[in-house]
Amino acid sequence: MAPPDTLTVAPAAERARELEQYHRDHVLGCVRCPLAEGRTQVVTGNGDPDADLMFVGEAPGYHEDRQGVPFVGQAGRLLDELLAGIGLTRDDVFVANVLKCRPPGNRDPLPAEIAACEGHLHRQVRLVRPRVICTLGNFATKLLSGRPEGISRVHGHELPIRLGELEVLLYPVFHPAAALYTPAMRATLAEDFARLPALMATPAAGAAPLVPGPEAEAASEPEPAPARARPEVPAPAGEQLGLF
Ligand code: URA
Repeated sequence: MAPPDTLTVAPAAERARELEQYHRDHVLGCVRCPLAEGRTQVVTGNGDPDADLMFVGEAPGYHEDRQGVPFVGQAGRLLDELLAGIGLTRDDVFVANVLKCRPPGNRDPLPAEIAACEGHLHRQVRLVRPRVICTLGNFATKLLSGRPEGISRVHGHELPIRLGELEVLLYPVFHPAAALYTPAMRATLAEDFARLPALMATPAAGAAPLVPGPEAEAASEPEPAPARARPEVPAPAGEQLGLF
């Protein structure tokens, strides 16, 4: 029996079933905020429900709202390209958004909408149990870091965070939509993506079971990569609250 101060982790198949059921019972019919009235479909999230790497974007756009799938428009194509650059596909990761419904005209999420939807994202994170959460842009980064610094300042700098009982490495990058037409930002995004495989291999990312199984105990753990120090850089003039 597990000691009383530790938690056992449900097997992946059980968590996957629970995630599906959570989406069905609580997200697909969600009316927690007025965005429910204007949506075509709720965009719950998709990918590997046991992924080591989870992406969190901002909110569905026109195409996502139509298809019910995150990142299927132009920004999604860039996300696919960036993933391919590090040898991954969408099937290897889980992709979700801060908001599960499209804001009208793709406007920025409102604080009340974020607050209403936040519980869905937290439940997704607790069920997927990723090692690394890569936040795409300002909204996801500020929500999950709980810090006010904008993406221009923090992109490419990992931050260990605790979400409930789960320790995760938060890794903010620019939003692909912001990089679509800005070659310099696109190059930076690709550079930041290039660090993801190493971050996922970092045991300090901490998504290991809190009660390690025998295989986990047998595995020899590599030395954790040192977290990169955050340089004291001034926020670029004109930093927006939006995507970058
Ligand atoms: N932008 C996002 O933030 N999320 C999507 O799903 C699509 C575009």
